[in-house]
Amino acid sequence: MMLRHFLQFKDLSRAELLYLFERTRVIKTRFKRYQPYHPLTDRTLAMIFEKSSTRTRLSFEAGMHQLGGSAIYLNTRDTQLGRGEPVEDAGEVISRMVDIVMIRTFEQDIIERFAAHSRVPVINGLTNEYHPCQILADIFTFIEHHGSIQGKSVSWIGDSNNMCNTWLQAAEVLDFNVHVSTPPGYEVEPERAGLYGTDHFESFVDPMDACRGADLVTTDVWTSMGWEAENEERMKDFADWQVDAEMMGVAKSDAVFMHCLPAHRGEEVTAEVIDGPQSVVWDEAENRLHVQKALMEFLLLGKVES
Ligand code: CP
Ligand code: NVA
Repeated sequence: MMLRHFLQFKDLSRAELLYLFERTRVIKTRFKRYQPYHPLTDRTLAMIFEKSSTRTRLSFEAGMHQLGGSAIYLNTRDTQLGRGEPVEDAGEVISRMVDIVMIRTFEQDIIERFAAHSRVPVINGLTNEYHPCQILADIFTFIEHHGSIQGKSVSWIGDSNNMCNTWLQAAEVLDFNVHVSTPPGYEVEPERAGLYGTDHFESFVDPMDACRGADLVTTDVWTSMGWEAENEERMKDFADWQVDAEMMGVAKSDAVFMHCLPAHRGEEVTAEVIDGPQSVVWDEAENRLHVQKALMEFLLLGKVES
């Protein structure tokens, strides 16, 4: 089988993504019925974390166990990576010992270099630039609530961060639109986002305008991991980019609200919205488990019938 990685969203084609969403549905249904499914018996996942995590670690580790395999957690603090071992050497060595690797790190370049030296599939568990597993879960969640995302309108309010970039890539592959509103100075950089063009996104100065008519409104923390030194300044700059009931009020009446979590109530979103009836954040978090099981199955076994 050809070696495949999932380093950014556009590494999978539209057809492969549609297969993955259907496969996620099958795997999730089986899991909910307590039907064991162990296609990855004796396979090992290495999870390398250079940043904190709750959901990503849990969903990958639990998911691998549920598929019959095992998972090993590594972090920068107590591996040689934290003491300057070249990432290329780590890629060579780790990929001789396990069957699949997930990495959460800083620059995208780090995971690209690791993957270039890996004999096994590498999955991006978040970099400064992208968070593709989260967007898989978000789109699967959207499909569960509203059906196909094609032609739909997603509002992104806040920082043009890894989540925003990945939404923009997903819009190109799956043909939907993203309306972005960021504070001045935090605008989308199309090249950093890895976009082919600007056909699928539009920028709005006023976040209310970005939310108008949306099928999905979403946001994320004002300060991502790695940017903590800017926190104070960002608190001021982002103050008007808080998703509140007024913004949800101009979206479609059946629009859903998403947030990848962890969230800061009273900063990027009000408690009224994130804990309100349009919020699907708990489904979104749970679906990390199901989409990543489908993803690991696909990267290790290709398309399966059962
Ligand atoms: N959404 C997400 O990736 O959460 P964690 O940082 O807890 O993994
Ligand atoms: N944009 C956030 C997402 C956390 C899951 C960060 O990178 O910290």
